[in-house]
Amino acid sequence: MEIAIIGTGYVGLVTGTCLSETGNHVTCVDINEQKVKMMQQGKLPIYEPGLEQLFHRNINNERLLFTTDLAGAIQNASIIFLALPTPPGGDGSADLSYVLGAAKDIACLISSYKVIVTKSTVPVGTADKVKAVFEKYTDVEVAVVSNPEFLREGVAVEDFMKPDRVVVGTTDQRARKLMADLYSPYVRQGNPIIFMDERSAELTKYAANSFLATKISFMNEIANLCELVGADVDMVRLGVGSDERIGKRFLFPGIGYGGSCFPKDVQALAKAADENNYDFRILNSVMSVNEIQKKILVEKLKKYYNGNLEGKRFALWGLAFKPETDDIREAPALYIIDELLKAGAVVVAYDPEAINNVKSQLADSILYANDLYEALVGTDALLILTEWSAFRNPDFDTIKLNMKDKVIFDGRNLYDLQKMEEHGFYYNSIGRQVVNEFKQQTV
Ligand code: UDX
Repeated sequence: MEIAIIGTGYVGLVTGTCLSETGNHVTCVDINEQKVKMMQQGKLPIYEPGLEQLFHRNINNERLLFTTDLAGAIQNASIIFLALPTPPGGDGSADLSYVLGAAKDIACLISSYKVIVTKSTVPVGTADKVKAVFEKYTDVEVAVVSNPEFLREGVAVEDFMKPDRVVVGTTDQRARKLMADLYSPYVRQGNPIIFMDERSAELTKYAANSFLATKISFMNEIANLCELVGADVDMVRLGVGSDERIGKRFLFPGIGYGGSCFPKDVQALAKAADENNYDFRILNSVMSVNEIQKKILVEKLKKYYNGNLEGKRFALWGLAFKPETDDIREAPALYIIDELLKAGAVVVAYDPEAINNVKSQLADSILYANDLYEALVGTDALLILTEWSAFRNPDFDTIKLNMKDKVIFDGRNLYDLQKMEEHGFYYNSIGRQVVNEFKQQTV
């Protein structure tokens, strides 16, 4: 099939590359000439495990092309994906100007039936707005389909190639057939393509992300309560998650959810509810719980140091909002850094992938280390903010040698409590007993 992808951000690039893998001829369009040139030369602008191999293979097979020429890209395409940014506008609702602008450009160029697919996360009713743009600027018939993505960064290729489900919102029979053909190789393992109307598809995406964000926030509150009543959240998590109705996944407490999707989508859904005169109470609570959770480690630090962080030196392991990505959008680490700097602390940060992104945002307001042990030299405490695999089994003797004090605040519960006790660390994690609390405080 001939496919055009408009927008080569994270979603567009993964979608385009994975669609070319099953034999489709995919042309990806972007207005950023430099980025297009880079991709034409076989360089990927993002880090995503497994993507590079598919990207090179399909470029070499001439099934994956990059261009700034919108007219050329869409001329023969039967399906055109809109994978454009929908950043939160000033009032929290999604800004549709990129999506509607592209719709207008396409409408002015097409001369035959096209299936226009919104891949970006867009508010309910966007398909109708896109349709209205086409009706205004062309007489050519189009079907506007809502096909939300459920890709997790770090495993996006796997999520695309073997999705749990594909949601397709359309009432146009021709479009339904084309979309079924396009996705059939990806649902061979028996998972469904779920067809529905456009509005339901649009809402499904927000509902899924908001539900997951709620699940995390619920566990974060349980973790906070565990600390107060002397329970262990890891045990509670296992006990609760073994009920299949709840499930084991996505129950890990931490320092709040971040990333480019959850914060934005929860906010946008609450806003959409508000616009429809519905007070979505749970979502409002989820947002406020997350705000508090992002600062939980700083609160713990302040308590430990009797409210004074001035001049303290802290090593931060992990800056990305989650492992296996260099993405720092809405990363809890950024909020923590901000609080630490405001309190007069010195921050030395290390991350396996995200350092450059942080450098371009924070410049020299913090110090950067080249490896995890270098970050620790002379520090008062280590803060673990992202659960990278490389942090899971470090050399604790080297850690002790490098640090000034043996103090760890772990926002991701990476270590066994008994091991920390044996190593003599003061170890404060999320929803678990504090290890060596009294030993350290008498030092
Ligand atoms: C998410 C959705 O999972 C995906 O389906 C959607 O299309 C895009 O948004 P992503 O943003 O890549 O994907 O990250 P995800 O792995 O879902 O994690 C989101 C946040 O929740 C991270 O900050 C992560 O640290 C946090 N999280 C996740 C927890 O705190 N605990 C958990 O148990 C799981």
